[in-house]
Amino acid sequence: MAEISTATTIAPAQGNTSALPPVEMVNLSIDGRPVSVPKGTLVITAAFQAGADVPYFCHHPRLKPAGACRMCLVKIEKMNKIQTACTVPVAEGMVVDTVSPEVKQAQNGILEFLLINHPLDCPVCDRGGECPLQNMVFQYGAGVTRFIDEKRHFPKAVPISEYVVLDRERCIQCARCTRFTEEISGDGELAIENRGNASIISPFSPDGFKSKFSGNTIELCPVGALTSRTYRFAARPWEFTSQDSICTMCGVGCNVAVQTRNGELMRVNARLNEDVNEEWTCDKGKFEQYWVNSTDRIKEPLQRYASQLRGVTWDDAMKASANALKDAAATNPNSVAGIGSTRASNEDLYLFQRLFRSVLGTNNIDHRMFPFPIIPMQTSIAEVGLAKKIVAIGTQVDDDLPVLWLRVYKAISKNGAEYFRNDDAHSPEVAEAIAAGADTVVLAWYGLPSADIEFLKSACAASGAKLNVLLPDNNSWGAIQMGVLPDRLPALHSVGNGATPRFESLWGAPLPAEPGLDTRGILEGCVSGSIKALYIMGSDPMTTFADKDLARSALEKVPFLIVQDMFMTETGKLASVFLPTCSFIEKDGSFTNIEGRVQKFKKAVEPRGQSKADWQIVAELASRLGKPVPYFSPRDVAREITKATAQ
Ligand code: SF4
Ligand code: SF4
Ligand code: FES
Repeated sequence: MAEISTATTIAPAQGNTSALPPVEMVNLSIDGRPVSVPKGTLVITAAFQAGADVPYFCHHPRLKPAGACRMCLVKIEKMNKIQTACTVPVAEGMVVDTVSPEVKQAQNGILEFLLINHPLDCPVCDRGGECPLQNMVFQYGAGVTRFIDEKRHFPKAVPISEYVVLDRERCIQCARCTRFTEEISGDGELAIENRGNASIISPFSPDGFKSKFSGNTIELCPVGALTSRTYRFAARPWEFTSQDSICTMCGVGCNVAVQTRNGELMRVNARLNEDVNEEWTCDKGKFEQYWVNSTDRIKEPLQRYASQLRGVTWDDAMKASANALKDAAATNPNSVAGIGSTRASNEDLYLFQRLFRSVLGTNNIDHRMFPFPIIPMQTSIAEVGLAKKIVAIGTQVDDDLPVLWLRVYKAISKNGAEYFRNDDAHSPEVAEAIAAGADTVVLAWYGLPSADIEFLKSACAASGAKLNVLLPDNNSWGAIQMGVLPDRLPALHSVGNGATPRFESLWGAPLPAEPGLDTRGILEGCVSGSIKALYIMGSDPMTTFADKDLARSALEKVPFLIVQDMFMTETGKLASVFLPTCSFIEKDGSFTNIEGRVQKFKKAVEPRGQSKADWQIVAELASRLGKPVPYFSPRDVAREITKATAQ
């Protein structure tokens, strides 16, 4: 192996490092190469930094050392026995050998032991093709086995949760899964039961493996012992294509890879982003996005004929929609209104509000089902993991924004942070925590009474505590930032303020000066008859608006209702025209997560049936209304968003 003449240096640990003390470095040699790493680094990490290829199974940089699999054996000068590189910290002047015949023989011996009881399952194992054990055997293993006796047998494929199957014969007892539940998710839901040959990975609770983060153990398991029930025998890893995407199931915006085959979503795996999800997802994100494959998706435009919605051409549906909007706006621009969605992309939402403001001439546009104070988060997601005191008010964090909970648990387990939930914003316990000042992070659910949120805002401002008002959906913050609000333009500029001329010049049209109606006002306008045409993009007020009677009377009464969605919702059933849209895996775009981070996602498959991206439908409507917009791709829209939101 070539000599590396200069010492390699490991970067300090991630996170907010500006306030950390200087790192003490340790110098050592790995296979003759000098390496300088921070004190406390494990030999295995230093070896990787030096370019050495040390085999391992149980080691994981985010889990505490376990020394469970014995695969990472190396020789360290002045130490009698061969050592596990994943459990020994570096020391000044240490000399490590990872390649000598003695070391290789020891590593091969461990591999042979592990294989004694491992079944020859690769052809039928869901892990086959991406299995560290399989790879290791190819790389290091003997070509033939010396073990001629009967292997041990256990029941195969035993479901241990709604999502996870255990194949006990394949388990190498590396304890990655159990350590994940102890150290990362904090629920302690898995344990190793019994000892030695009888060891079994077992849910702690008799009700099974109930962790909200169970899917991560599938990705962590270095063999096919834990596999997914949703992916079971669905595809082989070499058959699908993988595309970078963003989870759509909550506001955290976990980075994921969507893996597809023949136009279908096969699997969602986590993608590394240290600032957002590190390398984790929750079970909602991993297992509950198969709705994109649903055969219930609406695949063609529909138009109402008497009491029935019937399939029509795009041309007919767009003509009817454009005429209805044009006729209503010609009489009074404020007789049209739009309700957007917190799940549409930034590009979709930006064009939607631009259509209403610059083409139809109204600010009657909203996306909220109720008004709430708009307050940006005062810490990043990663900074929550550094807090000393965390208070949750009105939110069950592990349900509402699951991967944010992993940061809360990180603060508890790594920093000894104090955490409590108290839904009374005015309680003495909350007041005491806020009084602690900058060490406290308050996580307040956006659905709390507005007065409580305003109270918390003032109290935190006075003490220096950080207030994070948590929004629910994958693009809740994007809908705000794009200006899908009756009183705010993009980038939170108030309607009618000094920024208006800039938007008029950008959009080439005069803009309405008065704020428009919010969702309640729009629905009341439908009931009173002042709203003649309502365009709903991606939301379902019939199920999500609190006053169901108002929603039903409004949507039944409004003379023309355009509903744009993927599925036939309760709102869609009342539509005059239904425009089918595509899912996030069928288009490019971006979402903005709870902390205001804009993240791109990429198209992985072609749109279902005749469905189109929301932005495309809105752009086509603008053309039919006589004011074409110059966009041919989401990238064109994103360029204009950059101009519109520049301060
Ligand atoms: Fe390791 Fe997988 Fe066994 Fe858990 S189930 S101990 S992750 S091999
Ligand atoms: Fe998706 Fe939210 Fe879960 Fe992350 S925490 S995987 S964004 S549902
Ligand atoms: Fe070191 Fe398992 S990787 S003992």
